[in-house]
Amino acid sequence: MIALEKATRPLKGDVFVPGDKSISHRSIMFGALANGTTEITGFLQSADCLSTIDCFKKLGIIIDHSMRPSNGVPVITVHGKGLHGLRAPSETLFTGNSGTTTRLMSGILAAQHFNSMITGDSSIEKRPMNRVIKPLSQMGASISSVRGNDCCPLMITGDKRLHGINYRSPIASAQVKSSVLLAGLYAEGDTVVYEPALSRNHTEIMLSAFGADIHNEIATDGSAAAILHPGMPLTGMKINVPGDISSAAYFMVAALMVPGSELLIRNVGVNKTRAGIIRVLKQMGADITLLNCDDSQESKADILVKYSSLTCGENERFEIGGKVIPTMIDELPVVAVLAATADFDTVIKDAAELRVKESNRIETVVENLKAMGADVEATEDGIIIHGGNKLHGADINCHNDHRLAMSFAIASLAAEGTTRIIDERCIGISYPSFFKDLQALL
Ligand code: S3P
Repeated sequence: MIALEKATRPLKGDVFVPGDKSISHRSIMFGALANGTTEITGFLQSADCLSTIDCFKKLGIIIDHSMRPSNGVPVITVHGKGLHGLRAPSETLFTGNSGTTTRLMSGILAAQHFNSMITGDSSIEKRPMNRVIKPLSQMGASISSVRGNDCCPLMITGDKRLHGINYRSPIASAQVKSSVLLAGLYAEGDTVVYEPALSRNHTEIMLSAFGADIHNEIATDGSAAAILHPGMPLTGMKINVPGDISSAAYFMVAALMVPGSELLIRNVGVNKTRAGIIRVLKQMGADITLLNCDDSQESKADILVKYSSLTCGENERFEIGGKVIPTMIDELPVVAVLAATADFDTVIKDAAELRVKESNRIETVVENLKAMGADVEATEDGIIIHGGNKLHGADINCHNDHRLAMSFAIASLAAEGTTRIIDERCIGISYPSFFKDLQALL
């Protein structure tokens, strides 16, 4: 348990957030499937990404941690063995709490010559896996839920000949898209994944940098397509992982909630498929400026955020929905917290995916905001937040969900009295030093 009080003075200064979780996972996975070594700096040393490392070690990949002698920067070196170099694991692959590890690895394992079993913690064992079982099976893979409930553990039988498919995913999910594309690397013929809106495209960008023939397109019906022509080998490379915008989001919201605050969050990944939060906060009247922009495909910038009074403009209420949702899906809990401090109503919609994250984030955000005195309602696909209520401290039940723990730690900064985050250790999933970094600003 950690106890937090309302902020008594503005938050000021520079913040460095740890490396991007999605990019860190992919750097290990693609590095393992490449020929030669991949050197990663800025890697996120959190429980989820360490689960990915652990799985690849069990598949025979050597992964070293070292320090660059010239400047002491930590480096992870992945000794890739090429697309066909993984070896059969001698035990079940355990993915911990990580949906990304579970779903992306399922796509890779489905194409191997050996059998494997994959599972994770009690949260992973409840999350839907049919979303990858279905398309991978259509490609010719043999993958089944051991308990017959479409969840982990998954049994994957190897030595199947896969063929490329045109898959229309009903949801915008980078995990589904990436799983199918990774299997597609081994398939005969092209693989195309269409999604209703473009989800984070780190897989497409990074696989292309490793040498794969892959790109994004907008289809004639407006859906987003990722197109892979297999057959190109992957070659090891150097990767510098930018700061995680999902972690930066907590400090962006903190600065917007505490009067007089001004924070400069350094070196954050602002790829358009991830940066929906910046767009939405600006629409709410936030004073946010991107500085030192590096506009490569995985673009980076320093984010300057100044305290601002929020507005819903000419409208009666502020709506967040449609194609922006996949570009800020993990930030919606902390945006809901911010909305609860506004004096207008906010409607979050088209976000039913929140129900199948590390916790059911529609219900868990509503439960905890209510405990703090907010007037909120859960809907099928989102949350309605009635503004104009003062927050007060409460005991926060994180449901073992790292994003809940951090979102409500930020809520405490605007709440009268003491907020106690119960079981706050789940932050280790994505941001182990979060409380230390937050305390340094208080
Ligand atoms: C992720 C994709 C998102 C996101 C998750 C990480 C990824 O999930 O919520 O935290 O790295 O591909 P979905 O693709 O299922 O929406």
